[in-house]
Amino acid sequence: MTAKIKQIHPVFVGEVSDVDLREPLSAEDVRIIDEGIAQYGVLVFHGQNITDEQQTAFSRNFGELELPGKISNITKDQDRRLGPEMADVSNLGKDHQPLDRNDRARMFNLGNRLWHSDSSYKVVPAKYSLLSGRIVTEEGGETQFADMRAAYDALDQKTKDLIEDMVCEHSLIYSRGTLGFDELSEEELKNFTPVLQSLVRTNPDSGRKSIYLSAHIGRIIGAPRPEGLSLIRDLTEDATRPEFVYTHKWQQYDLVVWDNRSTMHRARAFDDVNEIRDMRRTTIAGDAPTVEQAVAAE
Ligand code: OGA
Ligand code: MN
Repeated sequence: MTAKIKQIHPVFVGEVSDVDLREPLSAEDVRIIDEGIAQYGVLVFHGQNITDEQQTAFSRNFGELELPGKISNITKDQDRRLGPEMADVSNLGKDHQPLDRNDRARMFNLGNRLWHSDSSYKVVPAKYSLLSGRIVTEEGGETQFADMRAAYDALDQKTKDLIEDMVCEHSLIYSRGTLGFDELSEEELKNFTPVLQSLVRTNPDSGRKSIYLSAHIGRIIGAPRPEGLSLIRDLTEDATRPEFVYTHKWQQYDLVVWDNRSTMHRARAFDDVNEIRDMRRTTIAGDAPTVEQAVAAE
């Protein structure tokens, strides 16, 4: 049995079959999947009833794991529901019950409903994310993906030239602030210190350029904030037009893998105060910053 991939959207997204993620993968399957991520940006696997350990083992085929920690979230170690390798993307507390409407963690996590790229607020941002749907919702709770390579290709030359060397500040302070969540402690503010990222990047695996957009952007270096952010808003609207977007309607035990360097994603709303949506993410670390951080001092 060798893994097979079929494209399921006009511009990106592949569906993978003939692979069982509970078992160690052959080198050939790892290669097919890795090349598939480079080509399609997003890969969908169905019917993968995996444990956290199996998810972690599968993920390690693609590089070092990026650990979620206090620079990624406001949840304290003692309140974590999952092990240190898993990002908890559910709406649940440690008791496995939905977080209360006014729970800080819930309000913070609602930031996932904005278009973003994972860990773009880290100096070395994430490469791949792998999201496993353990308990999924009947209504709402889809995940949407947008192809930032197709979005880049569709820009006119003037815009490509304008943004080519732009550098942005990214921080969780900005994405959470957009939804009105700004009650952060001194320590949290320090953990979420903005980092710099190039606005245009080239994916070394596919050679394709993409726009590196994210809700975490709060400034374009060298531009007045409203000017920079209105450009980011325009680019984001253009880049997430329907033709570049795939909506993933979750079935239980789907696993979706995406390349954060060439796609954005967001969660869609559901009745998260009453229903359970248990999603668990592993993340593959990136290998380098997109831009020198020293520029921040200017
Ligand atoms: C993530 C994320 C969206 C969702 O796992 O990084 O943003 O639909 N998830 O849960
Ligand atoms: Mn995310």
